[in-house]
Amino acid sequence: MKLSYFHVAGDVPDDAHSQTAVVIDVLRATTTIACALNNGAEAVQTFADLTELQNESSDWKSSLRLLLGERGGKMIDGFDLGNSPVAVTSDVVKGKRLFMSTTNGTRSLKRVSDTKVVYTMALINRRAVAEKLLLNQPEDVLILGSGWEGSYSLEDSLAAGALAAFLMESPGNSCKVINDELLAAIALWSACKNDIEGCLRKTTHGQRLERLGNHDDDFLCCSELDSISIVPTQREKGVLFSL
Ligand code: MLT
Repeated sequence: MKLSYFHVAGDVPDDAHSQTAVVIDVLRATTTIACALNNGAEAVQTFADLTELQNESSDWKSSLRLLLGERGGKMIDGFDLGNSPVAVTSDVVKGKRLFMSTTNGTRSLKRVSDTKVVYTMALINRRAVAEKLLLNQPEDVLILGSGWEGSYSLEDSLAAGALAAFLMESPGNSCKVINDELLAAIALWSACKNDIEGCLRKTTHGQRLERLGNHDDDFLCCSELDSISIVPTQREKGVLFSL
């Protein structure tokens, strides 16, 4: 398995031919997606564009849909939910389709939506995604972070490093890291893995969330490594189901 990591959607070369992509947005889109599916959401349909989201969601029965999303970390006006992973409890999301748009995470998903296999990963489902990859043994895996408006974000690299470290440490693995971005992510994971929550809080987006209000529950949830075993998987373009 050849592993590469790109910090943001814009860094993925046009000739990247991986058949499997893993999209990461630790704070908070892919953590929220994992929690929502773990709590019984029917699916999470993701959009980079809000008009497309409004058009698609209006075809869905209103009692079976929820609009979820943020811009700049704040809930979008008129939406049912923001992007907090602790808000997508089973009594809120069970059986519902979530129509989701976020500042960065859903853009990364769009960038790789034509890839044959797409998973989303956060720290909370790192082991589940790693085990899925070890089982399926794809030749190439493109790991894609979400960053912030086109620039690097540390928390996504931390999770990319956590995934690669797990794969490299698995017995009999044949994984090969093929870019320096991923080597740096593994070094970051090794330096910060004993204080994940502290690391998330120090990041620029962590600081942004702190400025917007109390996000203690979100930080705790986002930092609980390997706490759930959901592997959100794209089965229709832009639509993630649990596997
Ligand atoms: C994003 O997609 O940019 C994030 O998930 C932002 C957030 O923390 O809500």
